[in-house]
Amino acid sequence: MLKFQAPRGTRDLLPVDQLKWSVVFNKIRTVVENFSFGQIETPIYENQNVFTKPIGAQTDIVEKEMFEVRRMATHPTDSDEEKDRYVLRPEYTAPVVRAYLEHGLASWPQPVKLWYWGPTFRYDRPQKGRFRQFTQFGLEIFGEASPTTDAFLILVLWQIYAQLGIDRLITIDINTIGDSVCRPKIRKTLHDYLQKSRAELCADCRRRLDINPMRVLDCKNEACQKTVRYAPEIVDLTCPACKNHFRQVLEHLDDLNIPYDLNPRLVRGLDYYTKTTFEVRPTDDTNRQSSLGGGGRYDDLVQIFGGQSTPAIGFAGGVDRTVDYLLDQNIQLKVEERPKLCLIQFGQLARRKSLTVVSKLSDIGYSLVVSFDKEGLNAQLKYADKMGAALCLIIGQKEALAEEIIVRNMIDGSQEIVSVSKLTEVLKRKIKEITK
Ligand code: HAM
Repeated sequence: MLKFQAPRGTRDLLPVDQLKWSVVFNKIRTVVENFSFGQIETPIYENQNVFTKPIGAQTDIVEKEMFEVRRMATHPTDSDEEKDRYVLRPEYTAPVVRAYLEHGLASWPQPVKLWYWGPTFRYDRPQKGRFRQFTQFGLEIFGEASPTTDAFLILVLWQIYAQLGIDRLITIDINTIGDSVCRPKIRKTLHDYLQKSRAELCADCRRRLDINPMRVLDCKNEACQKTVRYAPEIVDLTCPACKNHFRQVLEHLDDLNIPYDLNPRLVRGLDYYTKTTFEVRPTDDTNRQSSLGGGGRYDDLVQIFGGQSTPAIGFAGGVDRTVDYLLDQNIQLKVEERPKLCLIQFGQLARRKSLTVVSKLSDIGYSLVVSFDKEGLNAQLKYADKMGAALCLIIGQKEALAEEIIVRNMIDGSQEIVSVSKLTEVLKRKIKEITK
């Protein structure tokens, strides 16, 4: 048993994993850049108030899942800053809204389109696909209320999944949850219906029933699911404007041939949503246990943060789940590897010269491997072989004095003595030959 291991619910990504993640990152970046989303990064921790009200004080995330960040204080302090409480971000949308207002993005030409990729933290019970530190990528569009924008956002994420090669394997669960006009009626109707079966609900739902009865609809508890089976459907309770908005979103998705499932129980675990809400899941995950991503409209959130009323919509995908799903589906995540070049040097003078030589090699598309502790040609050739080097640059005492270098092709064993001044040129040619 090792003395230290990565904390529960977290994991290390080794170089071989990072290569796969970088393939996913690059594919996502290509798509979002095609649609002119600008990348944003926010701090990993924020004042807890950035999340509490926007996400909802009664949600699992705020009630149970946030990690607090504190200075390890040995001396109590009463400075104002220390009185604020900070938490690791459990999601990006609220911090992005904070940043949108803090940096005056409201005065940019609308819509403002942003994307992100980075670590998020939730104190969840770790299991397959559920981590305490996980990476999210996401998209947010500010300043457009049109249902076409909802469909546009879904189109962008659909293209991401198409690039990743899984668009045929996934489905979008979609619903509308109304807006500030119809929400009071939705809440009251659901509350009155569920109130009759209050005793059958789980403790969390009993507690939440009076505050947000919609949350009972997607509770995973079996007894709660049974109770809500015949509950009124939100879409039927929404106002004509919300119904019309939803109908138009669905018409667009039909036009685009994007498969969706109307899911009248989908309310999402964050309180800031209005109108369209959706989740992306593997089509065969009929239990809806491991969504690859989720999102929706949040037309009131900018105002909750103190800004002008600004319609907005967004989506976030779980990178860990997505990468694991791609691997489960045997989808290759290969990066084009650059040929490896091994720098072999023996003797003090050669060692000195070798670093100077490397410093002068301009970007010619190689990846250098080198060991400065291995003495002698054979040991270093063996190392080059183990590392899969395609070419070796060999400098001994003689070459160092003559300003020359031996370039050895490890595939066919051929060698060439090259003057240092010509090295870049020769390597370019040889690398081209190898990668042909
Ligand atoms: P969310 O549904 O809470 O939405 O999270 C989005 C995705 O993050 C999930 O679908 C899942 O793939 C991944 N995820 C969540 N929790 C975990 C976990 N413990 N371990 C691994 N992956 C996880 C949001 O966060 C919203 N901010 C999305 C959004 C953006 N809405 C509007 N804009």
